[in-house]
Amino acid sequence: MTFDLEVIPPSDRYRILASLITPRPIAWITSQDHEGNINAAPFSFFNVFGSNPPLVAFAPGNKDRKTPKDTARNIREIKEFVIHMVDEPLGKVMVATSATLPHGESEIDLNDLTTLPSQKISVPRIADAPVALECTEHSTIEIGSNRLVIGIVHYIHVRDGIMDDKGYLQHDKYHPLARMASPDWYSRTNDQFEIPRPD
Ligand SMILES: Cc1cc2nc3c(=O)[nH]c(=O)nc-3n(C[C@H](O)[C@H](O)[C@H](O)COP(=O)(O)O)c2cc1C
Repeated sequence: MTFDLEVIPPSDRYRILASLITPRPIAWITSQDHEGNINAAPFSFFNVFGSNPPLVAFAPGNKDRKTPKDTARNIREIKEFVIHMVDEPLGKVMVATSATLPHGESEIDLNDLTTLPSQKISVPRIADAPVALECTEHSTIEIGSNRLVIGIVHYIHVRDGIMDDKGYLQHDKYHPLARMASPDWYSRTNDQFEIPRPD
């Protein structure tokens, strides 16, 4: 089977790409507008792209041709955001925060999420998340109705017990959820194995 992406409609393209390019990590992002309303939403077009500087990027599609999603709009205003990783106990509430609310209505309040202040930025973080990355916006590139938000990570919060004293991951203590086929499939990550690299 083959797919010519130049002739099939965008919704089919999305379904095919988002189903085949898996597993993807999920960035559960808090952002804030000038009035102080805190927004939360998940984005799986997301990854880390470097460590010097520590670079991350995610891609919010526009609501329509020109209108950004609230997360992108807030980041354009405030230039700060927090990316959280999500584990299985948080899966349902993370998905609940993907509901489309009017701008200014908070997914944090609606879902009774507890937040804590961040260390280096004004946007608060979600207390229950296993990992929280405090970020500032480096730049946002607009390509068609996609935006690619590039961020710099300044500070990382990790739930106690996930890393050992030297800062190495305890593999049996951290199982972030992975996004699988469109529309609603996910995978657990608790069956991991090692493939050593050649010298
Ligand atoms: C697991 C998951 C991953 C998602 N990934 C993306 C994504 O990468 N890009 C996107 O535009 N929307 C994505 N969405 C949909 C957004 O979360 C949804 O449009 C949300 O309402 C955006 O919120 P905002 O307007 O408050 O920013 C995803 C939804 C879920 C449940």
